[in-house]
Parts: sequence; C-alpha cells; structure tokens
Amino acid sequence: MHPSIHSPINPAMSAPAKRLYIKTYGCQMNVYDSERMADVLAPLGYGVTDSPEGADLVVLNTCHIREKATEKVYSELGQIKLMKQEKAASGAGEMTIAVAGCVAQAEGAEIMRRQPAVDLVVGPQAYHQLPELIARAHRAKGERLAADFAADAKFDALPTTRNPTGVTAFLTVQEGCDKFCTFCVVPYTRGAEWSRPAGTILAEARSLAERGVREVTLLGQNVNAYAGEGGLAGLVRQLAQIDGIARIRYTTSHPRDMDEALIAAHAEVPELMPYLHLPVQSGSNRILKAMNRAHTAESYLELIGKIRAARPDIAMSGDFIVGFPGERDADFEATLALVREVGHAAAFSFKYSRRPGTPAAALPGQVAEEVKDERLARLNALLDEQQKAFNAAQVGKVLPVLFEKPGRHPGQLSGRSPYLQAVHCEGPAELIGQIAPVRIEAAAKMSLGGSLAASQTLEPA
Ligand code: SAH
Ligand code: SF4
Ligand code: F3S
Repeated sequence: MHPSIHSPINPAMSAPAKRLYIKTYGCQMNVYDSERMADVLAPLGYGVTDSPEGADLVVLNTCHIREKATEKVYSELGQIKLMKQEKAASGAGEMTIAVAGCVAQAEGAEIMRRQPAVDLVVGPQAYHQLPELIARAHRAKGERLAADFAADAKFDALPTTRNPTGVTAFLTVQEGCDKFCTFCVVPYTRGAEWSRPAGTILAEARSLAERGVREVTLLGQNVNAYAGEGGLAGLVRQLAQIDGIARIRYTTSHPRDMDEALIAAHAEVPELMPYLHLPVQSGSNRILKAMNRAHTAESYLELIGKIRAARPDIAMSGDFIVGFPGERDADFEATLALVREVGHAAAFSFKYSRRPGTPAAALPGQVAEEVKDERLARLNALLDEQQKAFNAAQVGKVLPVLFEKPGRHPGQLSGRSPYLQAVHCEGPAELIGQIAPVRIEAAAKMSLGGSLAASQTLEPA
C-alpha cells in the first residue's frame, strides 16, 4: 500500500440534510474505510460534501505510518477547529469533529489532550459504531471509544451493498498484520491478521459489479495471507466468475505469503492483472534481518523468478526504506543492486521514520537525516529511470485500457493499462467503463498517451 493524501470522497448528488466531510490520509485501506464510514452514516441523513466549511460532521481518517503523516493530522485539526468556532459563532449550529484511523488507534488520548475541539476518536476496527458514538458525543462532550480489534464485528455491521462512484473500487478482504517488521506501527494500529469470509466479499463484489464496477482491488495489510478457504488464489478465481468484473488486482503482499497457488493464478486467470506490488524494503540481508522481514535478497529474487515464469510480462512494484538504523553505504548499494536486478516498473521509497513503540526506534546506529536524504535521492533517481524505461517500452504496443473517467482536455479519456499505467487518449464518453485497445504512441514518467485502435486485435495482457 502506498500512503499519500487522497482527495475527499465523492460529494453527494443532492443536497443532504446533514453535511459530512471526510478527509483521508494514508493507504488504500483508509480510502475503503472512508467510503464505508459514509455508508454507515448515510441512513442518519449524512451526505458527503467536498468542503469542511460549515459541515455538520468532519472526519479525519488518519495515518500513523511515518512521523510526517501523524503531524499533518494535528495541523489539519488546528484549521478545522477554527471552522468549528466560525460555525458556532454564526449561529449555524454545531460541527462535530471525529478523528478516525490509525492515529486514533495509536494515540487517541493524546489527540484529545492536544486538541480539545475533537469530539470523538474511533479506531479502524470500531467505525461501524460511529452512529452511536456521535449520538453519545452530542450528549456528553469528550466521550471516547476504547477501540478494540473485533474486525468481524465491524464487517458484520457494515452493509454488503455499496455505492461506488466509479468503474474501479477497493474491497477489503483481510486486515491486520502478524509480521512485526521492526520499523512498523501497523501490527499495533490494525491488530492481528484477520480474513473476511469469502461469502460476504463475493456479495460485496456482486453489488459493486451491479453498479458498474469493472475492476476491484482486493485490500489487506497482508492481502496474500488471506486465510479464507482456497486462500487468495481461490478468492481471485471466484471473483473472476462474477459478471462484469473484468479486472482484479490486490495489494499489499508480503514475500513470505506468495504461495504457489497464487503464482499459478497469475498464469491462469486472465482477469488477474499483471502488476504486483511486493514490498522488499532493502537489498541487504543484514538490514532485512534487523527489520525482521523473514526473507533475504536472494529468496526475494528467486520468488520474482517464479512469478515471472508464470507471467513473463508482470510489472513489479515495491516499497523501500532507506536509512534504517545501522544501514551502511554497502547495505544501501545492495538495495540499488536489487532494484537494478528486478527492474521495478514502479515503487515507493521512504526515509526511515522512527516510530514510538516499535523495536527499531530503540536500535543503535540511527542514520543522520542528510545521509537519508542523499540515499533517497539516489534510489529515486534509479527508480524513476526504470519507470520511464518501462513506460517507454510500451510505445508501439496495443494495450487494453479500462477507461475510468474523462481526461483533462475536452474529448479526452483517462484509463489504465493492465500494468496500472495511466493512459490518455481521445475517445467518446460512452467508452467509460469499457475496455478498449489503445495504440500507445507516447510515454512519460507518470502516464502513456495513444489513440484508439478499435479494429486491432488485442495482444494478450
Ligand atoms: N503491509 C503493508 C504495510 C503498509 S506500510 C506492506 O507491507 O506494504 C507501507 C510501507 O511504508 C511499507 O512497505 C514501508 O516501506 C513503509 N514504512 C512502514 N513503516 C515505516 C517507517 N517507520 N519509516 C519509513 N517507512 C515505513
Ligand atoms: Fe508493517 Fe511489515 Fe506488517 Fe507490512 S508486513 S504492515 S511493513 S509489519
Ligand atoms: Fe497508515 Fe494505517 Fe494504512 S498507519 S498506511 S493508514 S494501515
């Protein structure tokens, strides 16, 4: 999963009785959770709005993964507090402020202490209780839920029907993490690994397909540890049977849980897209051991070899951390060497951020900020070069593109290639929601350009 800030979710079509603003930080699972919060609040008359000003309820769905992500929450809360005061002063009524997500789970009490304007905090496993919490907060200020990790209770309480706004959708199938990488807060904020029963996942996917969704991305902190019957491979095969679902992706995977059945699915299930985000973090075995990653650079390369044997054109993506405690120049060079060897088509790279309560925070040999900066710049330069080369290699090919929305210019459409590249081309709006062949004519770092090749037969991809 790649943490970044996402824009607020879909504004409601008609003027709702109560206005709900949700801002989402962090990974795709938070994006999914924000949509589900809107789903549980809709029956109470809350409709999603795209601005916090004057909103009746503001939810910040937060991320704790790095220090910067966490600090952003506090500065954002400062701004929201002013809007709350303005609203009250103008006689327009109360604004309720809720903090959800991983910061709420990790430091709920601290949030309440640092920002008294916050009415409630709710962890990622407890947001199905938002209606009750809001009612309680309205009665008695400062009420807070001690979030627990009962993921099954949450999913049981969420409606199986969804209200998707586009042709692609996220679908959480697994939550939590038992891996305890020494740098990471996720096992503490999301709890133990837990898998949803396949039945409810399939029902949710059918509801999405009935409402025009063509592509689902299965989400889990360790999605390939999905423990339902048949594992993730079995689930993928069942989802591929659903009418309307043309593309399936999944994220994020751990190298340790990439089993033979899943690799075989990449060879055999055409709906499973040839793009795999498989974080490796480092190319140095010393550092991987200190990170408690339970794999080596060699075992990762061997795994990629097997995956590529099953699906030769697969685009590999990954996550990297530079400046983990004790990382020396030679360790960093090993990371660069691994990136060159794998030829990642995309990747996310981060400077190590010391997180309170994690084992690595207490390790000796914390790396100086300037060294981290320099290593990150060098790694990014290499990753950028590889990404550009991967994109450039598509020029001249005809790729099946799932059109998602109008492009930036009139008459233009925007979609995705099987390899998750953004593709722009001219075309009629009716193509949105459809897969059509596009001849790729231009490539940049972040996207491809081309033209419709309607009469072309598609290359398998
Ligand atoms: N299960 C997911 C976790 C999401 S965290 C996964 O394994 O991919 C996403 C990425 O954030 C991780 O892969 C790691 O590269 C990065 N990350 C996690 N903790 C970090 C920290 N303390 N400092 C810097 N990057 C971190
Ligand atoms: Fe964090 Fe490691 Fe679990 Fe991913 S596998 S969520 S990096 S502890
Ligand atoms: Fe952030 Fe929590 Fe996701 S810490 S990356 S929002 S699991």
